[in-house]
Amino acid sequence: MGGPLVYLNGDFLPIEQAKISVLDRGFLFGDGVYEVIPAYGGHPFRLKQHLARLDDSLRGIRLASPLADGDWATILARLLEGRPGDYSLYLQITRGAADKRDHAFPAVVKPTVFAMATPISPPSPEKLQKGIAAVTLDDVRWQLCNIKSITLLANILLRQQATEEGCDEAILIRDGQATEGTASNLFIVKDGLLLTPAKGPSLLPGITRDLVLELAAGAGIPLAEASIGLADLEGADEIWMTSSTREVMAVTTLNGRPVGNGWPGPLWQRMTCLYQICKERLRTGAEG
Ligand code: PDD
Repeated sequence: MGGPLVYLNGDFLPIEQAKISVLDRGFLFGDGVYEVIPAYGGHPFRLKQHLARLDDSLRGIRLASPLADGDWATILARLLEGRPGDYSLYLQITRGAADKRDHAFPAVVKPTVFAMATPISPPSPEKLQKGIAAVTLDDVRWQLCNIKSITLLANILLRQQATEEGCDEAILIRDGQATEGTASNLFIVKDGLLLTPAKGPSLLPGITRDLVLELAAGAGIPLAEASIGLADLEGADEIWMTSSTREVMAVTTLNGRPVGNGWPGPLWQRMTCLYQICKERLRTGAEG
């Protein structure tokens, strides 16, 4: 007996028995990439899209994919066995352990592959009813934010600053334009139009972002990709932040001032209903 099973380099073992070398480049350099995939009722949400993004991230750090999509599906199914609730699946691949610390890639190295399932809860009723508070901060991250890199120190420092300012998330500003949150993508609503920054190296191409755009298009909600400046944020009727684990959150306070009337807006209510329908379809076994 032991803690929950995790996957490490071909084995399923209790979490406290999962060990890696101190020479692992993930540990020494943050040289690796990851994915976070929600699973509802034992079914991973948008698995194909998450694995496609994992491949893009691996290409971005010039690391060959160690597993095929089918292998991942088998591993994740095993991690979810006997766990019918809501989970977040965490997948991490690092460049592995070389025999010495050297910044350049080792000539021969075996990637370290790790996965675990962690229980998640839906957003609290209070957050759904009142929304969340956000603060704008300077986007001090690097120029390859499209890669889902495990090197997250800038995101961590920014989130901590937001937390210390009594906020749930930071909206990051680069060259006068909002990019995304520390662990979420950004949407605003202005005069009934849903806007989000276009994909590119300054933000992570969120799977939830794509789903929200798909749901909005399906529901006939006008939408566009556009640059969002500080003035647009301040004048927005609604602001949303999206992520796999926190779903669609309404930002109701920005830099201490109310967004719109200070309550989650009507378009957010509609989107959150559409999102819940998707989740429930997946729970009952339909494709998510
Ligand atoms: N983060 N932007 C950043 C910087 C993120 O870290 C995340 C998600 C997102 C939203 O992506 P998605 O909709 O695919 O979850 C955007 C995960 C949840 C994390 O780091 O835990």
